[in-house]
Amino acid sequence: MSNIIKIFFSPSQTTKKVVEQVASNFKKEGETYDLLNFDSEKEFSQDDVAIVGMPIFAGRLPKSGRDRLAKLKGNNTKAIAIANYGNAQVKDALLELVNILKENNFDVIAAATTVSHHSIFDGVAVGRPDSEDIKKINEFAEKCQEKIESGESLTSEIPGNEEYTPYKQLPFIINCDEAVCSFCYDCVSICPEKAIPDDDPINTDLESCSRCTACISICSEDARKFTGEAFESKKPAFEQANSKRKEPEFYL
Ligand SMILES: Cc1cc2nc3c(=O)[nH]c(=O)nc-3n(C[C@H](O)[C@H](O)[C@H](O)COP(=O)(O)O)c2cc1C
Repeated sequence: MSNIIKIFFSPSQTTKKVVEQVASNFKKEGETYDLLNFDSEKEFSQDDVAIVGMPIFAGRLPKSGRDRLAKLKGNNTKAIAIANYGNAQVKDALLELVNILKENNFDVIAAATTVSHHSIFDGVAVGRPDSEDIKKINEFAEKCQEKIESGESLTSEIPGNEEYTPYKQLPFIINCDEAVCSFCYDCVSICPEKAIPDDDPINTDLESCSRCTACISICSEDARKFTGEAFESKKPAFEQANSKRKEPEFYL
């Protein structure tokens, strides 16, 4: 079989984990495109199988991830589309992902929504994906392999509205604690919106920041955190409202 290509935008690393889990079932090596680092054009061949993972941000794909993904073109390249979310809402994100891949000449053979630890509200979906999720993801990967061998495309309908839910900027503030920051500038390098100035990592430009959490996740000093009244007041109610376990869904 073909080369297995892993493609993901994964600020807090859980989408990466899900894509790698699917890929591990294929027992084949291949290239990885981490869209936090890769922002260029690329064309894949008919012999490739792309496993593409994106997180869900306010029911949509993250803007930077979507723009970077749009630069990757297929040649009737088989693709597995995965939208990974924090046990709250999916809305139109998986549909958006499948549509972008199809527009870019990928042959989408299967799709999934998977559940992972919420990267903003850290009391939601703690420890996920867990062993139950991994078992289901492995079963899905097995079915994907059967579909690739049979040559069939995706036939299931993907939930969502073609008129996608409008983009929403979250009002939460990301603060960097100057006393803790080691000025390593990792946050500056990783930020997909270039919202953290090269000469001043303490201040984040909240106009351009998408709150993706890449800077929080990469910070080895744990200096960066969500803070402020809007965040603190929303957290308990959000965590309560989204405490019931949701399950991954698979579309073949
Ligand atoms: C800006 C932002 C918006 C989010 N919106 C949603 C959402 O609409 N629904 C949801 O269930 N989770 C939402 N989440 C949680 C992420 O989808 C979830 O934590 C995902 O696992 C993050 O993937 P990553 O670890 O690859 O960054 C949001 C997270 C961020 C940072």
